[in-house]
Amino acid sequence: MLNLLYPIARSFLFQLDAEKTHDLTLHWFEKIQNTPLESLISQSFVKDPVECFGLTFPNRIGLAAGLDKDARCIDAFAAMGFGHIEVGTVTPRPQPGNPKPRLFRLPKAQALINRFGFNNLGVDNLIENVKRTKFKGVLGINIGKNFDTPVEEATQDYLICLEKVYPYASYITVNISSPNTANLRDLQFGKALDELLSAIKLKQKELSEKYAIKKPILIKIAPDLNDEEIDSLVDTFLKHQVDGLIATNTTMSREGVKGLPHSDEQGGLSGAPVFDASTEVVKKLSEKINGAFPIIGVGGIDNADKAKIKIEAGASLVQIYSGFIFEGPGLIHSIAKALKDFQFKETELERIELERTELERN
Ligand SMILES: Cc1cc2nc3c(=O)[nH]c(=O)nc-3n(C[C@H](O)[C@H](O)[C@H](O)COP(=O)(O)O)c2cc1C
Repeated sequence: MLNLLYPIARSFLFQLDAEKTHDLTLHWFEKIQNTPLESLISQSFVKDPVECFGLTFPNRIGLAAGLDKDARCIDAFAAMGFGHIEVGTVTPRPQPGNPKPRLFRLPKAQALINRFGFNNLGVDNLIENVKRTKFKGVLGINIGKNFDTPVEEATQDYLICLEKVYPYASYITVNISSPNTANLRDLQFGKALDELLSAIKLKQKELSEKYAIKKPILIKIAPDLNDEEIDSLVDTFLKHQVDGLIATNTTMSREGVKGLPHSDEQGGLSGAPVFDASTEVVKKLSEKINGAFPIIGVGGIDNADKAKIKIEAGASLVQIYSGFIFEGPGLIHSIAKALKDFQFKETELERIELERTELERN
């Protein structure tokens, strides 16, 4: 239903300030979830189970972090057909984020620029919201550091969040790639990354024993990485045996949007213009890690073909954020369905090839 109505809803919503629209929509989702009105946004669920990080994802499409930072609308997003939902980024203490305005639409490029700066109500509030949800699917909780925690003390913030969310998450994402928290991205490199991952893996071991279950911990990285940086990241990820990666966050680049209104706003660029850079990172990572752990591909997916390209580049699952804003909830079903058919076709081709080799051998 919402599929058909979305273009009309969008033309109205896009007249309003971007953050106001975001708040209004989330507020509405929150109000209608788990009520009869939920049928306005619900869609048939595409079943296409896939094993990843030791979890069974019911299909390959997930909601990327940042849209539901405080985990207010999990049941609404589940009704729309997402196979997994990632909430956060959440920080140990509540914080207001950067001054407004801090979210900008660049509709000609199907892109957004945001400098929210992890506005959220803190990890304790998020956990209360998670406890209230009816959702039984795969829930990722994305964790970060408070803006006023010095980057040298960031590990402590990640450990506080990790410890608190561990019993409630299916997987936890360590966000070290947001461009809107000063120096956060420095954690992607050298000694800082090595020390952070040592501490996180140690805590994961401790919590695995405490709760008698190992929850996968994924690292979310930026698209703005050169080959040398990717090599060094991969070495560190392999050394610490991370469970998986999410590639990528928003970009600092303005490639593809130069000259457009708002293109010179500070913040991370997302949507169609980040697709190529982000897919390239997935490709390079996947070649280098050679199957050591899975990758979730995110960045610029606004149709089913782009989702397939991410999978071909080496992603096992995909997530969307900006595409959802521009295309609406119908995108979830069309991607889930296309990836299911695509996967089926691949398996069929592999089976035929195997039969052919068998025949030739006999
Ligand atoms: C408004 C906005 C807020 C975001 N907030 C977060 C966040 O809090 N944590 C995070 O890991 N990623 C955040 N992201 C990044 C997205 O999760 C995603 O990685 C990125 O936007 C690329 O995907 P897309 O092109 O489909 O939007 C945010 C993106 C947008 C547009």
